[in-house]
Amino acid sequence: MASPNSKTVMLIDPDEDFLKWADKHLRTPDTEIICKTDASEALELYLQDPPDLVISELYTKPMGGMELLRKIRLNAPNAMVVLTTGFPPTSSVIEAMKLGAYDVLRKESLPYDLRPVVEEALKAGDIINSTPPPASQSLSQEHPSETIIGNSPAMQEVFKMIGRASRGDAPVLITGESGSGKEVVAGAIHTFSPRSGSEHVTINCAAIPENLLESELFGHEKGAFTGATSLRKGRFEQCDGGTLFLDEIGDMPLQTQSKILRVLQSGEFSRVGGNDPLFADVRILAATNKELEKAVEDRTFREDLFYRLNVVRIHIPPLRHRREDIRPLAEFFLNRIAEQKRGAKLRLADDTFTLLESHTWPGNVRELENTLNRASILATADVLLPKDIPLNWSAMASEPDAILSDRKITELLHLLSSCAGETPLLPWLEKQAANMMLAKTNNDEEAASSMLGITQERLKQLLDD
Ligand SMILES: Nc1ncnc2c1ncn2[C@@H]1O[C@H](COP(=O)(O)OP(=O)(O)OP(=O)(O)O)[C@@H](O)[C@H]1O
Ligand SMILES: [Mg+2]
Repeated sequence: MASPNSKTVMLIDPDEDFLKWADKHLRTPDTEIICKTDASEALELYLQDPPDLVISELYTKPMGGMELLRKIRLNAPNAMVVLTTGFPPTSSVIEAMKLGAYDVLRKESLPYDLRPVVEEALKAGDIINSTPPPASQSLSQEHPSETIIGNSPAMQEVFKMIGRASRGDAPVLITGESGSGKEVVAGAIHTFSPRSGSEHVTINCAAIPENLLESELFGHEKGAFTGATSLRKGRFEQCDGGTLFLDEIGDMPLQTQSKILRVLQSGEFSRVGGNDPLFADVRILAATNKELEKAVEDRTFREDLFYRLNVVRIHIPPLRHRREDIRPLAEFFLNRIAEQKRGAKLRLADDTFTLLESHTWPGNVRELENTLNRASILATADVLLPKDIPLNWSAMASEPDAILSDRKITELLHLLSSCAGETPLLPWLEKQAANMMLAKTNNDEEAASSMLGITQERLKQLLDD
């Protein structure tokens, strides 16, 4: 009698010799193997009594392996299916991964790849089946409009500070590492303040060239400088009655700092090229990931401006110092992904959560959000597995040997295809894929571009970018 842990693997291949070999190779006391040469019969059997894993050749009859994969996953969206063939065309690898195949393997690699992949896929199936459906009341369902999440005592303190800061009109200095949520906190202060009905404008002081920053903030008179063909109102005038968020204030040039100080002290400013004093009722919020105390010591930041801004200070601790927030944040992002894609909400397997919890998150909440976005693209089931979490991407890019494995290329092509339209990720991925293919083909540009399905010109363009 089969043990409760026993598994069933269905193999489909027109080649009976291959089936004999694979049956022998995979059979164990706990693994039952079913072999089929006919894909329609296999599908019928699948629908009656689904096995734990299906391994199908791509070129099967009367329907191909791809069609079989499509039909199976239509019926069972979490089904584990592996496709194999001699030398899978790029487009088939992409298509299969897009349809949710667990993996695509080359026949020649099966002697050493088949057993580990089967074990891995069966284990993944177990994890998926044992991960409970989401609790009926998740945090974000209870508070659907919540946009800033944090259960940790440290974040509770941040929320209290936001509340206090929202009552008054004093400037607020928000500090914290990159990606820790400074912009989110600035947004919350505005939303909860009496100014919420008015403008909330953000200026990134590091992103605007020095010579344009003043004109951006205070506007300019006609003829103030070459190119100033007409009068232009600045942000201060535009957001009269509202809130101006000066992001990356640590990068603001000294000259602009003194003008900001003047506004803070008297509410007064003038346009570039003009002398008339203007007034605007603007509340200033500022943020930086730099240590302003140090910048003051180094004389790159005005001490008087620092004290003026530092009256109310909200410091957001890095995510690694508030690990309790990882789960609620992850739930929040997964809900958002489901809403955006109008799909089922992805759940975290326990091991996946452990992995997220053990990471140090140098990029803080932004890194967590990006990681889950990428994972949601990689996932082939509605449960996120540890293998779907690309935590080591930067490491991967710096390890040439690791880059070259077929698994990585398959994964990358899969990502490439599913990211079409998701622009921020695409150029980086394309470049990675181009480099990998070139290394794999010993710098044969013709071969690399044809494997990627792009022109040689496009390949060159990617490498030049
Ligand atoms: N507590 C939070 N709740 C929900 N989302 C958050 C939270 N903190 C950060 N985020 C999300 O993480 C991302 C990064 O946050 P944000 O832009 O506010 O960081 P930052 O500190 O301003 O980073 P940088 O210094 O790089 O500008 C955003 O997409 C934001 O929505
Ligand atoms: Mg920011």
